[in-house]
Amino acid sequence: MAFPTPPIAPVRNPEIKFTKLFINNEFVDSVSGKTFPTINPVNGEKIADVQEGDKADVDKAVAAAQKALEFGSPWQKMDASQRGRLLNKLANLIDRDCGYLASLECVDNGKPYAAAFFVDTQGSNTLRYYAGWADKITGQTIPVDGNYLCYTKHEPVGVCGSIIPWNFPIPMLLWKIAPALACGNSVIVKPAEQTPLTALYIASLVKEAGFPPGVVNIIPGYGPTAGAAISSHPDINKVAFTGSAEVGRIVMEAAAKSNLKRVTLELGGKSPSVIFADTNLDVAVEQAHQALFFNNGQVCAAGSRTYVQEPIYDEFVKRSAERAKHKKVGDPFEHSSELGPVVDEDQFHKVLSLIDSGIKEGAKLQCGGKRLGEKGYFIQPTVFSDVTEDMRIGKEEIFGPVQQIIKFKTLEEAIERANKTDYGLAAAIFTENINTMLAFTSRVKAGTIWVNDYNIVRDQAPFGGFKQSGFGRELGSYALHEYTEVKTVFVKTPAKM
Ligand code: NAI
Ligand code: MG
Repeated sequence: MAFPTPPIAPVRNPEIKFTKLFINNEFVDSVSGKTFPTINPVNGEKIADVQEGDKADVDKAVAAAQKALEFGSPWQKMDASQRGRLLNKLANLIDRDCGYLASLECVDNGKPYAAAFFVDTQGSNTLRYYAGWADKITGQTIPVDGNYLCYTKHEPVGVCGSIIPWNFPIPMLLWKIAPALACGNSVIVKPAEQTPLTALYIASLVKEAGFPPGVVNIIPGYGPTAGAAISSHPDINKVAFTGSAEVGRIVMEAAAKSNLKRVTLELGGKSPSVIFADTNLDVAVEQAHQALFFNNGQVCAAGSRTYVQEPIYDEFVKRSAERAKHKKVGDPFEHSSELGPVVDEDQFHKVLSLIDSGIKEGAKLQCGGKRLGEKGYFIQPTVFSDVTEDMRIGKEEIFGPVQQIIKFKTLEEAIERANKTDYGLAAAIFTENINTMLAFTSRVKAGTIWVNDYNIVRDQAPFGGFKQSGFGRELGSYALHEYTEVKTVFVKTPAKM
């Protein structure tokens, strides 16, 4: 995606202002006193030491979050419209500091500044969307049999845990806390250990906006410790998780074994982009390229299986390889860089080993395939053709800059192969034929289907997966159901009223 030059210049070495846990509106050290380093993926060097949260810190946060919900507390008795005003205020503060926040994400995550600026900090709009909802979350009055006034109330679920990934640290945080707060819950957030810095800065803005103590708590730390303390906590009422399917299972199991807390999971996928021969080739090559390479392929909905119809296949492969070869990878602060490094050493090795598996299993390497430079976690944009769904690269989520191109002949075959995955997050089709489009959109099992476009995500529309991509929906009015309990009240009346 070519972004314009952001109107605010980046800060190359942003001052790291917040590295402590945020509990009850205060920045505090971890109970254990332990810290962990957060690393700049451009050079593998430490940016800062961050306080490392664990179970004892989560316990403190839960106590604060429960207190924030007590009857008569400032948050409990606040008018819903005022909750909306606070959400808007937080959005304004994020916009005020978007240059700094984007710079911080640039060093912590490695994504280009313009992408951090135009995609990540625009997450403030999610707060605005849910600010509007705060005083419009209503129940029903129901004409039940008998002499009763019957109505429903949508009440907060309670203390909501959020476990966040590193690919879009700001939007993933806001997708979870915005609907939770609009509905009157309190939250405990664990940012990803790779990218804790923007979440901690946003914590300072939560305080500045005027949210009462305990409503938002942010505990950086590792998954098996701080994350597990959230998913297994007996007094957390709901957990929302975005990340790997492997950890999604662990979170769900911990939720079941502890207190049956409500669970929503967004677990990524192996999404197909299906290109029919009747489509504009130039447009389709570019769209399929962006579908995969946006954010270095580190996107849950990445188009990581590119199906191309036989008559255009060879030309499509040639042009896709050309496009990838000319992609500019480099310093995230240089505006010309389309991509930076992948997020960390683990991802770097995971992606390179999947590339090796592709070569060994017989896919044709069209370009890339190696690390770039000697420092940091840069990987050459890589294109494979002649991929099949039984190869690891045709089956597993790679989460890196590696495109898989697959040949198909007919619509029936395209539908069958698009569905040949355990995942079901997203899918796309490129065609001018309305009947092809209708058959595909109705028969492919995916939470979002794009027609002649890719990666369109809007605050107003729900996002989530079929099959092992998880369950529950984020964004749109649908997410409100995940953050409310429905209470049914029967009032006995003297007669039919
Ligand atoms: P992960 O699933 O391990 O991490 C995601 C979040 O879960 C992080 O905050 C992590 O600290 C936390 N976590 C890890 N173990 C936990 C546990 N036992 N209990 C509770 N929380 C835990 O993902 P990771 O290791 O960063 O990346 C591995 C792969 O996962 C990627 O290569 C990619 O395929 C996938 N992934 C998918 C994402 C998506 O958007 N759906 C985002 C990030 C990763
Ligand atoms: Mg992990």
